[in-house]
Amino acid sequence: MLKEVTATRYITPLREGGSLPGLVEADDFGTYVIKFTGAGQGRKTLVAEVVCGELARRLGFRMPRLVTLRLDPVLGLGEPEQQVQDLLRSSGGTNLGMDFLSGALGYDPLAFPVSPEEAGRIVWFDALINNVDRSWRNPNLLVHRGELWLIDHGATMIWHHNWPSVEASAARPYDAAEHALARFAPDVTAAAAELAPRVTEDLLAEVTAEIPDAWLADEPGFDTPDELRRAYARPLLARAAVIAERITGIEEGK
Ligand SMILES: Nc1ncnc2c1ncn2[C@@H]1O[C@H](COP(=O)(O)OP(=O)(O)O)[C@@H](O)[C@H]1O
Ligand SMILES: [Mg+2]
Repeated sequence: MLKEVTATRYITPLREGGSLPGLVEADDFGTYVIKFTGAGQGRKTLVAEVVCGELARRLGFRMPRLVTLRLDPVLGLGEPEQQVQDLLRSSGGTNLGMDFLSGALGYDPLAFPVSPEEAGRIVWFDALINNVDRSWRNPNLLVHRGELWLIDHGATMIWHHNWPSVEASAARPYDAAEHALARFAPDVTAAAAELAPRVTEDLLAEVTAEIPDAWLADEPGFDTPDELRRAYARPLLARAAVIAERITGIEEGK
């Protein structure tokens, strides 16, 4: 289970992103990036963050630790900005927290070249989860102490917005032409050979077990949170076996 902490102080909004995540302090004295359950994109964004973030970590990617962050809506009362106040007030209960990487810089491909091996692993992983938010315009990669970290997996697994058509949707290819690392001749063949065998049913069960029940309840077509957890695992398992051959838009390094 993800560690549970309680927010004690709202520090500031993080302006770069579209979803207005914020920075909070919690009762363990940690500083966290908070993704609000009351944000426009809703709780599916948070589920995607947990599934893809926890999968990434288990596959050996650098990915800040995730926690669940309890929030008392009264924290919003003193906020001068209406948008922030509304978000805090509509996000009582369980939110997502992520370790804040202090001093991290947004990724710039011109300033930080990446090897074909590392580029291949990240492109392959993004193809697996169908990440549409790792483009050169909006890389969602941070450079922290000289190393690359993955963040922001909210816009992934598009199939979870339409479960009845999950099979067709999850079989689709991945266009990596706009990917932030496309220019580094990503070796996705080597990445697939290393990573695909590690994406097992057991690993996905472990990963989906991390999703808080509160974000899985009352999904139409599913009787229990565990049934929905299995629905998250299936397309990832299927895609892991085949997705390397379905990545378009890059020239592989050999
Ligand atoms: N763990 C983190 N450590 C440091 N900065 C972060 C972290 N997570 C996010 N940020 C900063 O906040 C911005 C917005 O976060 P992001 O997760 O990309 O949200 P959005 O869904 O709004 O794009 C990022 O571009 C980055 O600058
Ligand atoms: Mg982002």
